[in-house]
Amino acid sequence: VLIPDGERHKSQKTLDDVYGAFVDMGLGRDAVVVAFGGGVVGDLAGYAAATYMRGLMWVQVPTTLVAMVDSSVGGKVGINHPKAKNLVGTFHQPKAVVTDPSFLQTLPARELQSGAYEVLKCAVMADRALFEALREAPERLAGWERVDVENAIASACRVKAEIVEKDEREDGLRRVLNLGHTLGHALEAVTGYRRFTHGEAVGWGLIGAAWIARHRGLLGEGAYDAIASAVDRLGPRPRVSDLDTEHVLRAVRRDKKVRQGKLAFVLPTRIGRVVVEPSVQPAEVRRALRVMAGREALQA
Ligand SMILES: NC(=O)c1ccc[n+]([C@@H]2O[C@H](COP(=O)([O-])OP(=O)(O)OC[C@H]3O[C@@H](n4cnc5c(N)ncnc54)[C@H](O)[C@@H]3O)[C@@H](O)[C@H]2O)c1
Ligand SMILES: [Zn+2]
Repeated sequence: VLIPDGERHKSQKTLDDVYGAFVDMGLGRDAVVVAFGGGVVGDLAGYAAATYMRGLMWVQVPTTLVAMVDSSVGGKVGINHPKAKNLVGTFHQPKAVVTDPSFLQTLPARELQSGAYEVLKCAVMADRALFEALREAPERLAGWERVDVENAIASACRVKAEIVEKDEREDGLRRVLNLGHTLGHALEAVTGYRRFTHGEAVGWGLIGAAWIARHRGLLGEGAYDAIASAVDRLGPRPRVSDLDTEHVLRAVRRDKKVRQGKLAFVLPTRIGRVVVEPSVQPAEVRRALRVMAGREALQA
């Protein structure tokens, strides 16, 4: 079964077509679905597998860096709704994930960088050695050695897997995976999901979260600089300086991680450690956005 390319096809319509193809092929409860593609294919095919005849076994073969380090780990599957991304879904663990980094050879550079920001997020969150490896990687990962890429993928998967093993359903610990995502989601939303790749928005969000942490005295100056320059090395990212700060703040408040009107942020306290800070002030977010805008000039 082939599905059309692009996030907008992670939809009910495509899902119905996939169910239809399954029926035409005569798939029964003993069938195994193999999801071959990026995160869009993984989420949609996994959701089809979770729901067709009340559930089939499935195997995931991720072909993008995002899918290798993020969407293939944790068992979340689902589709978008016209009113909201990832609105409809469930948990359905694949029986196996088969990752072959050689698929990345044909991936467009911008998609590779998008995944690299998620790898960097894992490093800042929980893996200092991975952070050092990324610092030594060539700028924008151009021509990174295959074994280094393999190691980075394995490390990033381990970070996410350890967290989701302890907290599969996202009540407590799993929230730390949102490092960089509170601001990142807001940047994506205010630009209609067209300006930034998800990873680029997360890259900006990492700088914002690191700055807030530093401003609160939770993160040292040196660690802040190291994080921000590691993000910039993967860049350049589309600009943020022309965005309306109040629009961004409103989008941050709408984010589902906001509880009781307070802005909850995951903040780094050193490379490899984070805390969940429940009461970040709007003024801090405004200042973080100014710092991010000021950083544009530093990009290549
Ligand atoms: N389930 C989860 O936990 C989870 C986590 C993160 C992201 N996601 C989801 O993943 C999706 C994003 O995934 P993505 O970044 O992989 O996007 P994607 O699946 O749209 O793939 C990006 C682009 O790369 C192309 N492509 C895929 N593999 C290729 C290859 N080897 N060579 C050349 N081109 C290739 C695709 O056709 C597409 O155009 C989003 O829908 C997001 O919600 C899910
Ligand atoms: Zn993400």
